[in-house]
Amino acid sequence: MKKRKNIITVAIDSPAAAGAGTQAKLISKNYNLFYLDTGKIYRYIGMLKLKNQKKFSYNLVKYKIDNMKLSYLKNKSLLSNDVSLSAAKIARDKKIRDIVHKFQQKYAYNPPKKYNGSVLDGRDIITVQLKNAMFKFFITASVKVRAERRYMEYKSLNKKITYKEVLKSLRIRDKSDKERKYGPLKKTKDSILINTTKLSKKACFKKIKAIMDKKLIN
Ligand code: C5P
Repeated sequence: MKKRKNIITVAIDSPAAAGAGTQAKLISKNYNLFYLDTGKIYRYIGMLKLKNQKKFSYNLVKYKIDNMKLSYLKNKSLLSNDVSLSAAKIARDKKIRDIVHKFQQKYAYNPPKKYNGSVLDGRDIITVQLKNAMFKFFITASVKVRAERRYMEYKSLNKKITYKEVLKSLRIRDKSDKERKYGPLKKTKDSILINTTKLSKKACFKKIKAIMDKKLIN
């Protein structure tokens, strides 16, 4: 695989709805980095599974990922609670993870030329995908605050779901994502912990930016 030299790489791992996506977008904008929300790829496959219960196979997943355009990941239906639970289920499968991994590596190490590098967020970015990333952040928040934030997002999208259902769903995914055999969510010693429970988006980014600037400017 072709790897671009001297690029900035940022790896972020986090449990669901901890604010990693928001921070990744801010990082990508500020440092002109290509942003890949890796959860969306698992969601895309999760939706494929919901739609093709009988025809779902590794070949189908491989074909769909090989032919996937990045714009497919913007599809709003990927944001539903059912899709997120389906994504967490298919994400336990090693063969599926390997297919996704290949796709991600291409963008992580060879982002489009106009960018200075890449920023990826997910569950196994620091532990598996971008082990040598220049910056490694583990972003988290209490499960209740995460559920509150996700509930507000669903409300703004007019999705019919209660706070309790959101909390339950996050707990199911947290457990599955942390306890699975392949690519489980865990904090590595060399990653920087950012707890967003009591931090605003702005305050959180200020912290991240200070860390990144210190290294990039020196
Ligand atoms: O981040 P998001 O909530 O969109 O991720 C959906 C699901 O995809 C997660 O619950 C997790 O099971 C899976 N995922 C993963 N590895 C990643 C990103 C997401 O297993 N790098």
